[in-house]
Amino acid sequence: MKFFVDTADTADIADLAATGLLDGVTTNPSLIAKSGRDFLEVTREICALVEGPVSAEVVALDHETMMKEAEILRKISDNVAIKVPLTLDGLKTCKKLTDDGTMVNVTLCFSANQALLAAKAGATFISPFVGRHDDNGFDGMALIEDIRLIYDNYAFETEILVASVRHPIHVLESARIGADVATMPPSVIRSLFKHVLTDKGIEGFMADWAKTGQSIG
Ligand code: E4P
Repeated sequence: MKFFVDTADTADIADLAATGLLDGVTTNPSLIAKSGRDFLEVTREICALVEGPVSAEVVALDHETMMKEAEILRKISDNVAIKVPLTLDGLKTCKKLTDDGTMVNVTLCFSANQALLAAKAGATFISPFVGRHDDNGFDGMALIEDIRLIYDNYAFETEILVASVRHPIHVLESARIGADVATMPPSVIRSLFKHVLTDKGIEGFMADWAKTGQSIG
């Protein structure tokens, strides 16, 4: 499963990219606002930090303007994936862009039927928002299971990008189901490295090693 980080904070992206475990980045208008940075400038900087796909979201709601914005965004770098909302105009834009060979991430997906439409529109990625689904009394991971089943039934190549991930269990469940990608806030990626018994084990080994009075090298 690929790991994307869901942020526009370039310090966090650089830090996580240095692990060699980061496969891409997702941003959205709220994350750009949080960064306080210029959208095009920060997107350019992120694209230089990672080799994998960097999702940059259009903000227009109509197809024609979405296409104009996508033109500007895709010129930033070859690894830009244009992010469009799951609306009729968004999917029309998705079809046009993917027919041209541009990567498209269809976002704000909350039903399996919406995911089916995005796959038919040739989406590179579909982003079902599991955390927001859970928040509203639905079962986010059941949605991922349904989409996996449907995509496998018809051999769709659209990658399931689990979004709105809130905690490590979302990541574990995504991997169990066979999602292609999980995009996570930096804090969730960092939490995956941690285990109390790993810390305790290191503490014990270090204490015993000190007793030997030895050093390596
Ligand atoms: C994904 O592409 C979205 O940017 C993101 O995962 C939304 O997460 P949130 O529901 O925590 O805002």
